[in-house]
Amino acid sequence: MTTRDIQSLENIRWHRTEVSRKDRETLHGHRGLAVWFTGLSGSGKSTIANALCAQLHARGISTYLLDGDNLRHGLNSDLGFSMEDREENMRRVSEVTGLMVDAGLVVITSLISPLRQQREQIRTKLNRDEANRFVEVFVDTPLEVCEQRDPKGLYAKARSGEIEDFTGISSPFEPPLHPEVHVDTTVMDVDTCAQHILTKLPV
Ligand code: ADX
Repeated sequence: MTTRDIQSLENIRWHRTEVSRKDRETLHGHRGLAVWFTGLSGSGKSTIANALCAQLHARGISTYLLDGDNLRHGLNSDLGFSMEDREENMRRVSEVTGLMVDAGLVVITSLISPLRQQREQIRTKLNRDEANRFVEVFVDTPLEVCEQRDPKGLYAKARSGEIEDFTGISSPFEPPLHPEVHVDTTVMDVDTCAQHILTKLPV
C-alpha cells in the first residue's frame, strides 16, 4: 500500500446504515452465521458442504456456499498456492463471509484453509460483536484416504512433482485443535456428516 493509499483510507468514514443486521436477521427468521470448513483436498469438504446447504435450505434457512475451487475461477483467479497466496485467499473469503453474515445469511465456506493461526484470527474477527458467529468444521479425512480417493488426480501429480506446494504432500496442513464440529468421514457418510453439523449450528 502506498502512502497515498494510506492517507486516502484515513479520509474514509464508516457510514451507519438505517437497516441493521438485526433487522435483516428478523426478516430471515434466523441469525447470520459462518460455517467454516477446513480439511485436506479430497477430504469431502465440498460434498458435505453442499449436503449441509441443501438440508438448511429445506428448513427455510437462507444459505450461501463459498467454495474454494469455484472462487478461484473468479474472485481469487489471480492467486496460486504459495503460503502468501493461500493467506490472501483466506483473507478475501473471510471478508466476503463477514459481509454475508452481516446480510443475515448462513454462509458455508469450503476452503482447505491450512493455517491454524489464520483460522483463529477469522474466528476472533467474526465473533467480535457476538459470540458463536463462527463455527469451525473439521472434515477429518486422513491423508492416506484422500490420496487413495484422489478424485481429481492431483495427489498423483503432486507425488510425481508435476504440482508443487500441494497440501499434505509438499505444503503444510495444520488441523484444528478445538473445532466446534469434527466429522470423521471414514465412519460417517455424507448425509450423516451434514446432519451432525446441522445439530451443532447455533442458528
Ligand atoms: S487454500 O489452501 O487456499 O485454502 P483452496 O481451498 O482455495 O486452497 O483450493 C484448493 C483446491 O485447489 C483443491 O481442492 C484442489 O482441487 C486445487 N489445487 C490445485 N493445486 C493445489 C495445491 N498445490 N494444493 C492444494 N490444492 C490445490
